[in-house]
Amino acid sequence: MIDIHNHIIPGIDDGAVSLEQALAMLELAQADGIQKLVCTPHMHPGRFENNEGTIRPAFIGLQKQAAEAGLTIQLAMAAEVRFSDEMMFQLRKDEIPMIGQWEGFRCLLLEMPHQRIPVGMEQMLDWLYKREVRVVIAHPERNKELMSYPERVLPLVERGALLQLTAGSVAGLFGERAETTARWFVDRELVHFVASDAHHPVRRPPAMALAARTLNQWVGSEQCTQLTSENPDKLTQCLFGDAL
Ligand SMILES: [Fe+2]
Repeated sequence: MIDIHNHIIPGIDDGAVSLEQALAMLELAQADGIQKLVCTPHMHPGRFENNEGTIRPAFIGLQKQAAEAGLTIQLAMAAEVRFSDEMMFQLRKDEIPMIGQWEGFRCLLLEMPHQRIPVGMEQMLDWLYKREVRVVIAHPERNKELMSYPERVLPLVERGALLQLTAGSVAGLFGERAETTARWFVDRELVHFVASDAHHPVRRPPAMALAARTLNQWVGSEQCTQLTSENPDKLTQCLFGDAL
């Protein structure tokens, strides 16, 4: 499997707090059946002031330590970008590390506020699309507005957005509403990726295998493989080089 969303780089957001914790999470990921992992720290103005310049050195440090620790999991870097006006400036200045490419478009991993779909979301997607950028929306099933009105994701999908569910939501670890909403999206074939969004080795571990078991029951092994391996591979080939 390939994990395209997690907070394993230590000390630059609310994920791993130390190198030891980061390495423990990588070990767990490897044991969970994850062969490739894209580190995606938060870029959240006012909270986590990250950009290409802060993420890359921290990532290179982790990659080196992981190799020295004998881990075989392959690593790449991107970011989870919070919806904000600043995104437009950062994109223009090339400060956003992209999550990959999809059908000729560059893609960025986008986080919406948890309560609602932000005002201006559709316009932002149009603005990005014109610049040949599509978004991967992180965990739409955990957005309160979409939990109540899942159909409100459709105008976003029509504007080229791809959806990424959190593995824990599929496995029921984020409550019944997140699970039901996740299922609503999966049943309508609106989802492209499932990823861990791991933050901690114990409280929020990189538990993709658990989600894969549920997905197998929901939609069968072929579609499960598509969501956890094939689509993530297609998206991130430009980050890792060759295919899985
Ligand atoms: Fe995240």
